[in-house]
Amino acid sequence: MLRRPRRNRKSAAIRSAIAETHIGVQHMIMPLFLVTGTGIKEQIPSLPMAYRWSMDTLLEEIGECLNLGIDKFMIFPAIPEELKDKTATYSHDPDNFYLEAATKIKEKYPQACLISDVAMDPYSSDGHDGLVKDGKILNDETLPILAKMAVAQAKAGFDMIGPSDMMDGRVVAIRMALDDAGFTDTSIMSYTAKYASALYGPFRDALDSAPKAGDKKTYQMDPSNVNEAIIEAQLDVEEGADFIMIKPALHYLDVIRELKTTFDVPTVAYHVSGECAMLYAACENGWLDREKMVPETLLSIRRAGADLVITYFAKEFAQSLK
Ligand code: PBG
Repeated sequence: MLRRPRRNRKSAAIRSAIAETHIGVQHMIMPLFLVTGTGIKEQIPSLPMAYRWSMDTLLEEIGECLNLGIDKFMIFPAIPEELKDKTATYSHDPDNFYLEAATKIKEKYPQACLISDVAMDPYSSDGHDGLVKDGKILNDETLPILAKMAVAQAKAGFDMIGPSDMMDGRVVAIRMALDDAGFTDTSIMSYTAKYASALYGPFRDALDSAPKAGDKKTYQMDPSNVNEAIIEAQLDVEEGADFIMIKPALHYLDVIRELKTTFDVPTVAYHVSGECAMLYAACENGWLDREKMVPETLLSIRRAGADLVITYFAKEFAQSLK
């Protein structure tokens, strides 16, 4: 045998010298759930590594993450039921506690990169990402609401706007509204290929944001499709997205690879709540070893082509590196 691939695996020194993929804290985005009140750190039963934080405890948590080297955060609000309505008015209310939190975080930690969530579902009495009329999700009527929400978030200090709603034309609608309002430096991280997945269950538990009727299949993508992801990415890139996202991650590694090779723009994968919950549960049962599983999982997502990974394990991963 002239070629023996095992020679290149014979020691840790050689293995690390030829490793093709690396992961570090710089690739991590930490998702965080925000609630009203003070002194709250409430574990989410179906997503036990994540918590609902109030403003004060969230600030402390972000401080801890920054000390561990994580500097990118995605914040999701749990809106009290009485503040929800058909048109998601509260999403751009100047007294909105989510917007207020962003301003406070940026005041205290200007180095933190804050990514928002743009979609109607947390604020909507229908629990859908768009405006609902006679059981239908209206596309074009939703766009001005999303644009208004995005401008309010930019004004509050968010560094990046994260449209997760999957309406057609939202990226350009948001880009134009941001530019018109003078926020030319505010980036857009678009949820480009967001599939109608059953893996969002624990997230909807955390925010109590499940649709009141129907499902999200007329706007989120069919899990059987990859060509459609290419169309979505083409549109998002043309419409001005700075980052494109694939969501979920592990069941869609082929889509990550496809979009990264086709477009070669900064690509993000969302290791969603259900994926993290599955892994956590298997490890709690003693069936899998979490210390080994977490880095292997995150590495796989990076190897598929993701530049950045959004994961509820970000903090645990950063701690394991220390
Ligand atoms: C809301 C939104 C969802 C997630 C991120 N933004 C849920 C949904 O579309 O129902 C899911 C994230 C996760 O499961 O971790 N538009």
